[in-house]
Amino acid sequence: MKIYAHRGYSAKYPENTLAAFRAAADLPIDGVEFDVHLTKDQQVVVIHDESINRTSNGQGFVKDMTLQALRGFDYGGWFSKEFAGETIPTLSEVLTIFRDTNLRVNIELKSDIFAYAGMEELVLKEVEALGMQEQVVISSFDHEAVARVAELAPNIENAALFVNTILEIVEYQEKLPAKALHVSLPSALRRPVQEAIQRGSVVRVWTINEVEHVILLVNSGVEAIFTDEPEKMMVFIKEN
Ligand code: G3P
Ligand code: CA
Repeated sequence: MKIYAHRGYSAKYPENTLAAFRAAADLPIDGVEFDVHLTKDQQVVVIHDESINRTSNGQGFVKDMTLQALRGFDYGGWFSKEFAGETIPTLSEVLTIFRDTNLRVNIELKSDIFAYAGMEELVLKEVEALGMQEQVVISSFDHEAVARVAELAPNIENAALFVNTILEIVEYQEKLPAKALHVSLPSALRRPVQEAIQRGSVVRVWTINEVEHVILLVNSGVEAIFTDEPEKMMVFIKEN
């Protein structure tokens, strides 16, 4: 089972920061995952929430601030004093860290509250500028965005994210189309997703931080797990 570091090495470093990504890039793992939003001046930035309130010393929505304004805050001190001064990374800064590694790079397009018009095009432009089309997987809970990626860049792997599975997931995946399914733990073990795996679908599971949960997935056929604890999972998988 492959290991993707979720939001970088987010158990030990502030999530979605360059420190978390550099730490992930140094590990012998298979991939990394992170989240993107659009700024007021249409820059693609890496952060999980719509607002900077939880993971910085600032306040406000990403969509209402320019990149320069967002750069005025600290994105590491909330996690630990030693990371004070971490900035909000741009997509291209993060991609550059992984370009010369063997890690797959999963970019999650966020639009849980706000829709970002044109985000798919902007993300694809940056991926293509760095020649990373074969290295990235672009996913979203917004399945219109997943379909748009398939339309704009059929050569790039896209993935539909699910909280809960749906009964006709095989047909749904074909129709989108999505090359992979990113599902939660209970869904991965249920009949529809198991059927998708048997028919050759790539399935990855988020977010697995307990070894007891890895045990449940051992014979499930899933390709990979996303985890905040990549080192712990590496050791466990190696020894079992
Ligand atoms: O991409 C898998 C997982 O990251 C989705 O949930 O909330 O951690 O972005 P979340
Ligand atoms: Ca995510």
